[in-house]
Amino acid sequence: MTEAVLLVGGKGTRLQPLTINTPKPMVPAAGVPFLAHQLARARAAGVRHVVLATCYLAEVFEPYFGDGSAHGLRLTYVTEDEPLGTGGAIRAASDALGAAPGDPVLVFNGDILTGLDIRRLLHRHEQAQADVTLHLTRVADPRAFGLVPTDADGRVLAFTEKPGRPEEIVTDQINAGCYVFRREVIDTIPAGRPVSVERETFPGLLAGGARLHGVVDTAYWLDLGRPASFVQASADLVRGIVRSPAVPGETGEHLVLPGAHVEPGARLGGGTVVGAGAHVAAGAEVEGSVVLDGARVEADARVRASMVGAGARVGARTVLDGVVIGDHSDVGADNELREGARVWCGMSIPDAAIRFSAV
Ligand code: GDD
Ligand code: MG
Repeated sequence: MTEAVLLVGGKGTRLQPLTINTPKPMVPAAGVPFLAHQLARARAAGVRHVVLATCYLAEVFEPYFGDGSAHGLRLTYVTEDEPLGTGGAIRAASDALGAAPGDPVLVFNGDILTGLDIRRLLHRHEQAQADVTLHLTRVADPRAFGLVPTDADGRVLAFTEKPGRPEEIVTDQINAGCYVFRREVIDTIPAGRPVSVERETFPGLLAGGARLHGVVDTAYWLDLGRPASFVQASADLVRGIVRSPAVPGETGEHLVLPGAHVEPGARLGGGTVVGAGAHVAAGAEVEGSVVLDGARVEADARVRASMVGAGARVGARTVLDGVVIGDHSDVGADNELREGARVWCGMSIPDAAIRFSAV
């Protein structure tokens, strides 16, 4: 039986205001909490026990996911009182694992959407007889990630988290946020204090001569840390560009959840999802966006690449492009918001109050 630890305790600061009331992994993507996609993908790869390492808003996970049986898994919840960092969380979660010292344990960051072949990663871990095997991906600008150069055999040469100096940018291979640990290696992480797996554990293991193996994979990969990538991930799931068994319906240009009301003459496209109890009025156009439960998009509004929070309202003829509207906010008619604008939860914007000028 394969076990996994899922790191879901971060504050999701870069996703605010979506993460004010909801931890990042519980924000819906393609109609279900993002975490449901990760669990479904793990299960499909043969994982049967997942330890959720929770901290920020820890209490909301269990009421939704319960003991995991509805998802074909056994779920165990481990909660840190104070954030222990990625490494500290993995160490705390390990007490709940049944794996023997030599067994592989999967570890996932809780904000990654990927088409990675998890079974293949496990296989490569065995072949390499590694202490830790890391999924790596290539990105154009690696500065916001952990840089992981490898030799021709895949052996990890260094681990540099979020390099600050230009001379540190020695590769475009980054840590993709999924690892296979030999269980006994997890138990070498100090318990009960904050530890960064990226800044402390990996460099320390390398310095001590441990075998870290990197597997570069070209499958779909997206970090959902920012609103634009979160919305993109949801749209890609709806359209089937990346597959998840947890999408509640057929893949296509849009997904309308039961209990939503889309008036004739409204146009939905680009992988838009409309949540339960939400309303999209005639003449509205919603493209590549997430409209959460109970939200309203009024007549002739144009919403693109945006997230409309639960119970929020977008007034008639208002234009949103690349915007986050917090839960229960009210954006009046004839506004124009673009490019990274974020309306905090419960705020009101009067009619015709905001215009956008590119210069
Ligand atoms: N339980 C717990 N406790 N979880 C935590 C904590 C904590 O104290 N801190 C962070 N996490 C969880 C987050 O919820 C997230 O799922 C994961 O750990 C990674 O944290 P992020 O805050 O999203 O890190 P990042 O995106 O800046 O960088 C990480 O991911 C990159 C790939 O997206 C690093 O692992 C990088 O090396 C990597 O390239
Ligand atoms: Mg992240």
